[in-house]
Formats: sequence, C-alpha cells, structure tokens
Amino acid sequence: KRHLISAADLTRDDAVLILDTAEEMARVADRPIKKLPTLRGRTVVNLFFEDSTRTRISFEAAEKRLSADVINFTAKGSSVSKGESLKDTAQTLEAMGVDAVVIRHGASGAPYRLATSDWIDAAVINAGDGTHQHPTQALLDAFTMRRRLVGRDAGLGQDLAGKRITIVGDVLHSRVARSNVDLLHTLGAEVTLVAPPTLLPVGVDHWTCDVSYDLDSVLPKSDAVMMLRVQRERMNAAFFPTEREYSRRYGLDGERMARMPEHGIVMHPGPMVRGMEITAEVADSDRCTVIEQVANGVHTRMAVLYLLLGGNEPAVSHARPVDS
Ligand code: CP
Repeated sequence: KRHLISAADLTRDDAVLILDTAEEMARVADRPIKKLPTLRGRTVVNLFFEDSTRTRISFEAAEKRLSADVINFTAKGSSVSKGESLKDTAQTLEAMGVDAVVIRHGASGAPYRLATSDWIDAAVINAGDGTHQHPTQALLDAFTMRRRLVGRDAGLGQDLAGKRITIVGDVLHSRVARSNVDLLHTLGAEVTLVAPPTLLPVGVDHWTCDVSYDLDSVLPKSDAVMMLRVQRERMNAAFFPTEREYSRRYGLDGERMARMPEHGIVMHPGPMVRGMEITAEVADSDRCTVIEQVANGVHTRMAVLYLLLGGNEPAVSHARPVDS
C-alpha cells in the first residue's frame, strides 16, 4: 500500500507529477460536469480527530468528484468520546472495507502509526498531525506558487527553482511550515523563516532554510510571503508576545506589503486571524491567494487520491466525465 504521510517523503519527480496531475484535475473543474468515474466503487473515510474547515471539505469534494463513496467521521459525537482507541476505531473501519483513510489527528505521528500498523489495510493520507506535517497543504501551496510565479501552462513539468519564499509567524506549532520547508526545498526554492525567537523550534538551524527576525528586510526579496496563524490553543501564556507587539513586528499590513516586489504574492493556509498576523486590507487584496489556495486544494487532493488509488484507470485527460 502507498501512503502520504510527510512532504519529506516526496522526491522532486513525485511532487512535480502531483502538481502536473492537479493541473489536469483543474481542467476537469472547468468543465460543466466536474465529476470523473476514476474511484467508482472505492470507499474513502475522512477520519477527523481535530477541527477543520478547509481540509475536510476539500477532501470530501475531491473524493466526490472522483466518484468515491465517502464516509465522514469526526471524533466529536463518536465513540472516541467514550474512550475508544485509534486502534479500535481503525479496526472498525477495516471491518467495513475502506480503501483509503484521510486522517487528521492532534498527536504528531498518528497517521504514521496507522499506516505502519496491521489494524487496517488501506492507503493512509495525512490531513495534519499535531505540529508535525500537513503534506497536502504544502502541495496545494506549491501548486498555487507554481501557477502564480511560473505560470499555469509554463509551469507543467517545472519545479520552483530559485523562487524565494518567506514563511512568517508561529513556526514552532506549525505543521504547515514544516511541510512547506520540506517540499519547497525539494522543489528548489529558497525558504526563509521569520518568527519571534520563542516561536521557533529547537534545532531549526538544521532545517533546510534560513532564519531571520527582521520581516521588513526580507520582504523586498520575497516572491511569496506565507503568513501563519498564531496557534494559541497549542501554547501557554509564557510563549506568547502581546498581540500588539506581535502585529507590530510580524504582522502584514498594507504598508509592509508594499515592500514586496510587484509580482509577489501573499499566502495564508487559513484559518486567518485578521488583525493579528494579517490585516483585512492585505487579506482582501488581489495579491492574497488565500481563496485561490482553497480552490487549488481540491485539484491537488484529487491528484493525490488519483495517484494513490487510481491504479490502472485511464489518464485523467482521457477519462469521460460522469453525470451522477
Ligand atoms: N489549512 C487548514 O488545514 O485549514 P483547516 O484547519 O480549516 O483544515
């Protein structure tokens, strides 16, 4: 069985194949009938132990557009609240016959545990685990950057070599930052992290990126700036600079955004805390790709599901859309 657990597991060729396949899926989304028969008869479970808006809905849309049978499971309201373990939950799903599990979990390593266990014989896709990884977020971000910075057609077969990407904010608690650093490095981009020292992880000097504490000096050299949410739910008060101090030094407002090159884009994985890491003026500007990222998430997740589960089905471009 093949799984997607970490962006670090992807080679450059794997990643470019996923991005190119996502472009094919995007063409399907431009058709009046957006559905493909590729996963007809396959069952995918969305197993969410942590809250989500974008990832959960996006995976569900991607699965349905590929004609999979979809089962949605959220820990709230399930027998997890009665103390049921991940193992028992997984074995329950196995008994029902599932082909893939998309899992979000608060514990770093939970998807890896599932993928390497004998509890379940399904492909496992990590939809975000603790502070560890969120590989499909990194893929949809890379897709968005390639489209905006290289071009929709010109980007096919290409990576992000030489592009300068700045990731700003709460890196310590961010699986999005970790996944992006791994994938962007594989794709040849140069990544700089900007964060308060208290919101950088121990050992960040061994990551495949640079670190700066001065956002204003990095912005003029940034092709893309990715703002991160401050994850207060994962920290105690000792970690946290005051909101005002944080916004003053690490927040992106219109004046700061003007320091970026004209072609530079502003990204955010969502959910955004407007007024904290990003002002409404920036979030609602043409340079901010946050809504585009959400749309691209469906194409990218369709590509991942297709490549993991599609088997010998015909290539997307030759597959006929279905009307049900
Ligand atoms: N970007 C992201 O993972 O958002 P959700 O938590 O809403 O899924």
